[in-house]
Amino acid sequence: MDAYVHVSGLSKTFPVSRDIGQVLRGERPVVHAVRSVDFSIAPGETVGLLGESGCGKTTTGRLLLKLVEPTEGSIRIGDKVLAGLSGESLRGFRRDAQFVFQNPFDALNPRIAIGRSLAEPLINAGIPREEHAERTRVVLERVRIRGTELLERYPHEMSGGQLQRVVLARALILEPRFIVADEPVSMLDVSVRAGILNLMRELQDSLGLTAIYISHDLALVRYVARRTLVMYLGSLVEDGPTEDVIHEPLHPYTKALIAAVPLPRVTQTRDPLPLRPGTPDARKVGKGCPFVNRCPAAMAVCEIERPPLVAVAAGRRVACHLMPAAPLRAAGSLAPAAS
Ligand SMILES: Nc1ncnc2c1ncn2[C@@H]1O[C@H](COP(=O)(O)OP(=O)(O)O)[C@@H](O)[C@H]1O
Ligand SMILES: [Mg+2]
Repeated sequence: MDAYVHVSGLSKTFPVSRDIGQVLRGERPVVHAVRSVDFSIAPGETVGLLGESGCGKTTTGRLLLKLVEPTEGSIRIGDKVLAGLSGESLRGFRRDAQFVFQNPFDALNPRIAIGRSLAEPLINAGIPREEHAERTRVVLERVRIRGTELLERYPHEMSGGQLQRVVLARALILEPRFIVADEPVSMLDVSVRAGILNLMRELQDSLGLTAIYISHDLALVRYVARRTLVMYLGSLVEDGPTEDVIHEPLHPYTKALIAAVPLPRVTQTRDPLPLRPGTPDARKVGKGCPFVNRCPAAMAVCEIERPPLVAVAAGRRVACHLMPAAPLRAAGSLAPAAS
């Protein structure tokens, strides 16, 4: 089947402030938020985008929704190439693709009542007024909010869990086909997280949504997504079915991530090589592997050549010089060539 989301050679840099030396030398330093990223998502598929803070997840999500423009590369969603959208085609895209924000308190204007917050996307999309009440009723039912009293309330009068349902309702009211959920429950109490995630999963199934869940939390990604993309300093380093990635991580960074969190039903005997100390800094990515400074298995080649993300088995890709691509080896013999 044709991919619903197709991303090719996607990069985004942001200018960063210069120190005096850089000003004098005429340098314009940038941060590489996203670096030559390629992936596809099948229609109806849910993919998790996993990585620690600052690795470029939110920027990727914003690029996918055309909230920022790429520095390089292209994105196609459904039959639309994002770079070419304007006017009516852009408005169509804005209906079909929605963001579910991290913080419900940021996503909703505190000074306007919930009912108006829900109507806003309808107004912006030019949906006739006589349809608003019915659309609102349907979407509230979908997110399991009963009664309409709540429409009169303001965000501060509601609990985090209720607010997150409203944020979800707002994202779904235009009946999108694609959603980007950025750390969707990270601001919620643990006690209400599962409820919201279950609801999102159910809705996705019943509405046939294609979705990308962005999170730093491996357990969350495991819960919602059958496939996981692992990101490090702007690059995709691993891509595969979530359970395979968890049980047999291939990239040294993924191995370290998984060794760091206890997960039910996962044996962590797989020699978790210690990470070299250091923090990822998106201003200091050289031409080599983005992980080279912390990789316990780094080789000379890793300093000078960035490993491409290549298929190493059915449905699995990894960007690591330890994992040669071709010929495709049988599953079960996926251990790195040198470890
Ligand atoms: N608007 C911006 N201007 C400058 N730098 C930015 C901007 N947005 C993100 N960045 C930088 O890009 C990198 C990736 O950020 P982000 O996509 O927010 O990562 P994540 O969501 O994984 O935490 C970070 O180094 C961040 O500081
Ligand atoms: Mg983020």
